[in-house]
Amino acid sequence: MTISPALATPRPSGFFAKAYSAFGVLLLLELFAQFYFIAAAVIPIAAPLTVAFPPDYASYNTFSALHGLNGTLLIPATILILILLSFTARHPWKTTLFTALILLLLILQFALALIGFQHSELAPIVGLHGLNALLIVGIALRLTWQRWAF
Ligand code: HEM
Repeated sequence: MTISPALATPRPSGFFAKAYSAFGVLLLLELFAQFYFIAAAVIPIAAPLTVAFPPDYASYNTFSALHGLNGTLLIPATILILILLSFTARHPWKTTLFTALILLLLILQFALALIGFQHSELAPIVGLHGLNALLIVGIALRLTWQRWAF
């Protein structure tokens, strides 16, 4: 029977390792909120029954602003703290590298949104914003699971 490397290696402990875990959970919550905000923003205005039920753009403005603020302020700040914590917790360099990769993918996420704002003809490329979101969540989940310190 083979044991997963995440289980075979001793669990990191100490203040910084615990802080890395806590911020990992915070990042996951922020990422899940992104899915929630954008669904709450877009579904009411994308519904095909707009004649019977005129869309409420006020709720679009609120929820897309929350998506924008979370994605451009809270999430990058949390990732930067995670990168610092991964150094101070003395996690393996691979963990630091993958944490930094999330930041790179977030920059790509922002770039894809900006392209979408200006070039509607590039919609098939802009749609990668949805797939890249899944990649970001996948890496964040794996890192939080692998470096769990509680
Ligand atoms: C990891 C999760 C996600 C992150 C970090 C993220 C991040 C971002 C960022 C930084 C922006 C630009 C905001 C601005 O300049 O105001 C944006 C815009 C947008 N994103 Fe996402 N996003 C995520 C998931 C998704 C998903 C799953 C969808 C839908 C499938 C989506 C749809 C949109 C739309 C429609 C916009 C333009 C509207 C707006 O400004 O809020 N996003 N996103």
